[in-house]
Amino acid sequence: MTERSLVLVKPDGVERNLVGQILARFEAKGYRLVDLRMLTPERSLLEQHYAEHQGKPFFEPLVEFMMSGPVVAAVVEGHRVIEGLRTIMGPSEPTTAPGGTIRGDLGRDWGASVQKNLVHGSDSPESAEREIGIWFG
Ligand code: RTP
Ligand code: MG
Repeated sequence: MTERSLVLVKPDGVERNLVGQILARFEAKGYRLVDLRMLTPERSLLEQHYAEHQGKPFFEPLVEFMMSGPVVAAVVEGHRVIEGLRTIMGPSEPTTAPGGTIRGDLGRDWGASVQKNLVHGSDSPESAEREIGIWFG
């Protein structure tokens, strides 16, 4: 089966009208959107999605941020898509993310208690299957 990744355009990306630009970069690279929805996630969904971060200092601000407005969830498909999307997204920290990446080009630090970095992509095939089940199951 072709590899799949969960993508989230986070509430900051939706609020700033960047959904089209962000998804366009994934499509332009050659990956295929195979499912898409917009929703404002509930706490229980986010606690599952971010289970690995429970107990960390940024966990509560992260959940509050992700609940703060609509997000766009997508399933993106292609050979080595997980690695490819994370390359296009750039590292978590938008201030130092390289130019040419989504976070480097479109993100910045807003001085909040959590990094608002526009986009999420799964970090392994196991995470992708788990996350797709949470958001599309
Ligand atoms: P993501 O899961 O959203 O694709 O991002 P990531 O792998 O690059 O980052 P991760 O380490 O999984 O952290 C998840 C999200 O939590 C927020 N965060 N803020 N110290 C901070 O302010 C901080 N640390 C993490 C970011 O929104 C990050 O993307
Ligand atoms: Mg992560």
